[in-house]
Amino acid sequence: MKKLSVAIVGCGGIATNTHLPILKEMELTDVTAICDINPAKLAPFEEKVGHPVEKFTDYREMLKKTKLDSVHVCTPNYVHAEISCAALDAGANVLCEKPDAMTGAEAEAMKAARDRSGKVLMVMRNNRFLDASDVVRSLIAEGKTGELYTGRCGWIRRRGIPGAGGWFTTKAQSGGGPLIDLGVHFIDLAMHFMGSPKPVAVSGCTYRKFQNSTISDSVHSAFGEKKENGTFDVEDLAIGLIRFADGRSLQIEFSWASNIEQEMNFVELRGEKMGFSIHNDALTLYGEEGGHLTNTTVRVGQNFGHMRYIHHYYDVLTKGAKPIYDITEGIDMIRILNAMYESAETGREIRL
Ligand SMILES: NC(=O)c1ccc[n+]([C@@H]2O[C@H](COP(=O)([O-])OP(=O)(O)OC[C@H]3O[C@@H](n4cnc5c(N)ncnc54)[C@H](O)[C@@H]3O)[C@@H](O)[C@H]2O)c1
Repeated sequence: MKKLSVAIVGCGGIATNTHLPILKEMELTDVTAICDINPAKLAPFEEKVGHPVEKFTDYREMLKKTKLDSVHVCTPNYVHAEISCAALDAGANVLCEKPDAMTGAEAEAMKAARDRSGKVLMVMRNNRFLDASDVVRSLIAEGKTGELYTGRCGWIRRRGIPGAGGWFTTKAQSGGGPLIDLGVHFIDLAMHFMGSPKPVAVSGCTYRKFQNSTISDSVHSAFGEKKENGTFDVEDLAIGLIRFADGRSLQIEFSWASNIEQEMNFVELRGEKMGFSIHNDALTLYGEEGGHLTNTTVRVGQNFGHMRYIHHYYDVLTKGAKPIYDITEGIDMIRILNAMYESAETGREIRL
């Protein structure tokens, strides 16, 4: 079978540590082109690819000069939508890193480009492929949880600011701080388990207290390049409440830095029959049996889900697999996040 011709746009942390190694392991794919706005990134990245590739500093030129089956968008957030739309319009399928986009209008433009091109567009939702997520999906499908009517999710770091001073902490390039960076992971997972309910209103508060902190105790803060005396105009903590059309709700809390005991990430949902929490990837079920309250720990493997998500995307392209994600979910996600920021600024609940 002829290999699929793949390009990677943005040769930074996630492309180097995650996308490229996974693509190199796959029989089906051949990385034929790479693009980074910073020319110094190209030769070292080509070396990691392991064979000569076409190298570009402008994705538009790359799309004009190459015939690609698939483009992985691994750039900072502010160009996700622009590059994804251009790649779709050039006839390539697209796997874009999270977050989907910076604004609802950008996410709508991605949907329009997907629809007019007839190509596949997926945005990274690696946590949907945690081993714990498989177990939870089965329990929900078997009716064991009952209606999941409310819950909480978050990723709260003690000190874990990615690339301070660089694009991650510059609102115009990231769209925001931990709310958009980390919220996309676990708000998505909670909503995915709840069956993608329609968000109708959000209320939130944001804070920025640690822009001068240089301490880090999180492996995750290794992402992004730091910049001395750079910009830090995003929040470092966000809390909020999302209301859904059917009366269900979700509390959220995301921080890159706050004075807590230790870093944790979690999705905790309450079902009528059973609740559960995925807490730092460990799954516990909360129920009632024979007149007793039960806590059941489920032993699940640890994986970050990226490998399975990338394989799933290629299964969608080549085997007709039903995509686990649709850009309409991305539109709702970005609307929620932006409304959260608006609520924090205006001090009132925002209707979507
Ligand atoms: N799914 C996850 O768990 C996960 C983890 C980390 C990062 N990410 C996402 O991946 C994306 C990249 O993050 P990162 O940590 O790799 O950042 P990074 O700063 O390490 O890398 C980004 C790269 O993109 C390049 N770039 C910037 N603008 C460009 C453009 N217009 N065209 C081509 N290249 C351009 C930069 O020069 C840099 O090399 C972000 O959107 C981030 O949210 C996802």
